[in-house]
Amino acid sequence: MQEIPTVGLGTWKAFPGEVTDAVKVAINLGYRHFDCAYFYHNESEVGLGINEKIREGVVRRDELFVVSKPGEKDIPLDRSGKVIPSHTSFLDTWQAMEDLVIQGLVKNIGVSNFNHEQLERLLNKPGLRLRPITNQIECHPYLNQKNLIDFCHERNVSVTAYRPLGGSRDGVHLMDDMVVRKIAKRLGKSPAQILIRFQIQRNVIVIPKSVNPSRIRENIQVFDFELTEKDMEELLSLDKNLRLATFPTTENHKDYPFHIEY
Ligand SMILES: NC(=O)c1ccc[n+]([C@@H]2O[C@H](COP(=O)([O-])OP(=O)(O)OC[C@H]3O[C@@H](n4cnc5c(N)ncnc54)[C@H](OP(=O)(O)O)[C@@H]3O)[C@@H](O)[C@H]2O)c1
Repeated sequence: MQEIPTVGLGTWKAFPGEVTDAVKVAINLGYRHFDCAYFYHNESEVGLGINEKIREGVVRRDELFVVSKPGEKDIPLDRSGKVIPSHTSFLDTWQAMEDLVIQGLVKNIGVSNFNHEQLERLLNKPGLRLRPITNQIECHPYLNQKNLIDFCHERNVSVTAYRPLGGSRDGVHLMDDMVVRKIAKRLGKSPAQILIRFQIQRNVIVIPKSVNPSRIRENIQVFDFELTEKDMEELLSLDKNLRLATFPTTENHKDYPFHIEY
């Protein structure tokens, strides 16, 4: 099983015209993990950036951890705008994904947005051939996911934190939080660096998105300082179970994961 580089570059909402350069900058700065998805409509442009850096000899393909998530570019919706659910069991989907590894088409497989019951079901699947390498979930101080992280780590499944900076949703400004800012000021770091470092010290992989070269640089310069235990406790105490990525059009799906606490 390949080790997952601790800090990766998120690519959701990185527009096709900007993501190729962002990927090239990131590789130059030492990023070796890229989080992508078919649904982000920009995978080809991410690939162009990767390709160019491999051709230049800056990086080898086997040094890179490139994540994709299968899906449909245009998810079928009913008249009310809800997703038309598939009745496929995710255990069958997993079996098909295991085949991809066995056929050498992908190197590792993992899950995303799985709650603890779903993960347990998968790990207990009769005839399971491969365990998930990670569970990629929304995670930041306003949704610290302590229970789910403990659950995953106890079962040797790594956790990848998405939306670690709180994203760009109107009305929620995690990077402006007084506690985050206070710690950042004391350490001479940016709020984003504090939020990324917070995940690293919990043994959580983290994938901040940026297309801005100076922020891409800032977001990986997080290995030369440490948060104290008190900082960590203060950040953990900000939890308000605030989920920013809720996927409302999928609430009617039988596997919608957020109906239970964790
Ligand atoms: N599996 C899933 O269901 C799922 C769901 C959501 C996201 N994801 C993945 O997780 C990645 C990260 O989550 P996200 O994109 O939602 O949110 P995020 O990484 O928490 O926040 C991204 C936002 O923060 C800004 N930003 C980045 N670095 C900054 C810095 N140092 N200072 C100030 N602002 C900064 C970015 O703008 P600029 O680009 O202009 O810098 C962007 O607006 C996604 O890109 C995607 O790959 C997965």
